[in-house]
Amino acid sequence: MRVVLAITGASGVIYGVKLLEALKGKAEVSLVVSDIGKKLLEDETGLKYENVKRMAADSYENSDLFSPLASGSSHFDAMAIVPCSISTIGKIANGIADDLITRTALVAMKERRKLIVVPREMPLDAIALENMTRLARLGVIVCPAAPAFYGRPENLDDLVNFVAGRIMDLLGIENELYERYQNRNKEKV
Ligand SMILES: Cc1cc2nc3c(=O)[nH]c(=O)nc-3n(C[C@H](O)[C@H](O)[C@H](O)COP(=O)(O)O)c2cc1C
Repeated sequence: MRVVLAITGASGVIYGVKLLEALKGKAEVSLVVSDIGKKLLEDETGLKYENVKRMAADSYENSDLFSPLASGSSHFDAMAIVPCSISTIGKIANGIADDLITRTALVAMKERRKLIVVPREMPLDAIALENMTRLARLGVIVCPAAPAFYGRPENLDDLVNFVAGRIMDLLGIENELYERYQNRNKEKV
């Protein structure tokens, strides 16, 4: 399976890094990180982009509209934008393809391939909600970075793994990154 993973300039770039790690050996990943995404990567995780990109099969600059990913003839099965800024969501929802991430997302949509966007913003204004509704109606999976607590997370890693695991589920890739829901009250009966 070939997956395009994009990381944009929203807080929570660690979700994208975790997904990249989890995909290792399970999918061939092409990585694109926006300029602000690169800055947040270093700021929030202390990781260097140059090291992170080594985990991917290949990587492209977000300005590189000549990348094969920008063409409908490119062979990838799915794209995940993790995290996806509200700005990038707005561009995709309105057909603006002015960088590689937005262009590839629009390629995924027009070619009817799976596109997963993972927004991280709070609160949400009506513009963001309308843009997300528009994308959802067009078949895009809008998967907010909102970890559940039914698995009783004990640390940050548990929360991050929950979100990365749900994205893996949506990609159709088996994983044991998080504890699936079980009814504890029922166990006691
Ligand atoms: C420190 C910092 C944190 C940000 N956090 C968020 C965020 O959580 N969600 C969001 O939608 N935008 C956030 N932004 C704003 C985006 O980075 C900005 O809209 C940018 O244009 C997005 O560009 P990109 O989608 O090409 O990466 C943040 C910006 C900075 C500098």
